Formats: sequence, structure tokens, C-alpha cells
Amino acid sequence: MKVRFLGTAAGGGAPQWNCGCTTCGKARRAGVSRTQDCLAVTGDGESWYLVNASPDLRTQLLATPELAPTAGSRDSPVRGVVFTSAELDHTIGLLTLREAGSLDVFATATVHEALRSGFPVETAVGAYTRLREHRLVPGTPMELAGGLRVTCTVLSAKKPRYAAAGTSGEWVSACRFDTGPRGGSLVYAPGLAAWTDAFSRVIADADVVVLDGTFLTEQEMGPARPASGMGHLAIGEVLPFLAGHPGPRYLFTHLNNTNPLVLPGALEASTLAEVNAAVAFDGQLLEL
Ligand code: MLT
Ligand code: MN
Ligand code: ZN
Repeated sequence: MKVRFLGTAAGGGAPQWNCGCTTCGKARRAGVSRTQDCLAVTGDGESWYLVNASPDLRTQLLATPELAPTAGSRDSPVRGVVFTSAELDHTIGLLTLREAGSLDVFATATVHEALRSGFPVETAVGAYTRLREHRLVPGTPMELAGGLRVTCTVLSAKKPRYAAAGTSGEWVSACRFDTGPRGGSLVYAPGLAAWTDAFSRVIADADVVVLDGTFLTEQEMGPARPASGMGHLAIGEVLPFLAGHPGPRYLFTHLNNTNPLVLPGALEASTLAEVNAAVAFDGQLLEL
């Protein structure tokens, strides 16, 4: 299995265009930029799947040599998209893929419904390309091309702000990718609201676990906007769980622009290394 981090920031990116917070200021001065979280994964090096479709997708695809079309063709290695949520920062990029010959889109029933109603991006893109909708049933593995298998686990019912009031269900998932009994395994969970027993089981024997790195601390946005109230378990809260679950390599993604770990060489990074964790970076390549 090969994995390429296309982007590692939360919605708005880092620095965020309209934000003058300390971290954004430092990032601007240092010329640091993280694009919005998105991953590319393949089992055979030929058929690639995007995990989420970020608003920065066109730039991210152009920066990724593995995802370039073969010379003289219009045949991109991108076969489809797997969604972990219906949030705008995870779905706007589907619009960018409308020139595809065809597109397989994998999501829970709740997420597909949102992408056909509140933010009807699947309906719109379906008018430009052959978009095949596949329903991810939590706990039931689904085969993708190239020997890759995906299994989703629902993490929370936190719905996007645009979604109709009262809608509930399978909103935020972790997606686990496997390539067979002796192959690699990766769990992608950019929106982890709480560490549950179910989540411990999902990551048990995974090689790499990509976690919600939105906030370093619970109060990072001030006492009125705690991280937990936004469906994000702060890195500071998750570290004790990592110490209790040694084995996988942990990488944090979906960093908010307020998070000091956005910047390279942040002092806080050394604490992560003690529990086999680090902050992912745009363009990072993993071979599992
Ligand atoms: C989130 O990760 O919580 C959402 O993407 C936030 C948002 O942009 O509304
Ligand atoms: Mn987000
Ligand atoms: Zn900022």
C-alpha cells in the first residue's frame, strides 16, 4: 500500500486567508503553507483513491507525480473518492473532478444523502461525469480496485452546519484501508470526537493511524469554543490514549490554523515522538 498526504490542514488551510492569529502570522512570515486535508491511497500503485476531496484538490493533484495521467491519455490513476464526512472542507473538491471519465464515490448513506440535498455536489458532478455511488455500511468491508479494501466505522453524528436540522446518522467515520492478510493497513480518522472502545478495536493491529490534529489543546479557540464542542478531541487529550495503545505509528492531520504544530520545529512536537506520533506534512509519502 502507498499513501500520499495531499493536504494536512483543517478547513480554511493554514495560514487561513482571513486570519491574523499568532500561528497564521508566523506561518505567513516563514512562508509555511498547509493545504486542506486530503489523502491518496493505492493497493497496487496503479489505481488510486482519494480520501476526501479538499477545496485545494487541483493544486494537490498537480503536486503529486503518482496521480498524473499517462502520456497521451486522459486516463487519470484516480479511480474514486472515499468520504469520511460530508463537511465542506472534505467535499468541495469533488467539483474539481467533474472532467473525470467516471468516478466511484464511497460514503455512508447519511453522507450520500447530504451530498444530494443540502450540498448537492454529487448531483451536480453527476451531470458532467459518470458518478457511481457506493454505500459504505459501517463494519462491512468493501473491495476497491488494486487489492485495496475499505471498512468504515462511525465516530460521531456531528453534522455539517449546512445539513438540515434534525438529520442524524452516520456523519463522521474513520476509514480503515487494508491490502490483505500480509499487506499494510492504515486508519484515517481526521475527525475524532472521542476515543471509544470501538475505535481501539479499529486501530488494534494497524500499521499507521492518522488522527484528528485540529487542535493541540481543548481551549485553543477560547473557553467559549472548546475543541470537544466542535467534534474534535484535542491532541493533548489523545496522547494518553496513544501511550496505552502502542504498536501503530500515529500521524496527526487536519491541523487548524490556530494549532502551533502547524509550524515546523514546534517545541510541542517532541512530546509526540515519545508515543510514536508526529505531525503529517503535505506531500508526505508512506509505503506500508
Ligand atoms: C470540522 O472539521 O469541524 C468542520 O470542517 C468545520 C467547518 O468547516 O465547519
Ligand atoms: Mn474540517
Ligand atoms: Zn489563524
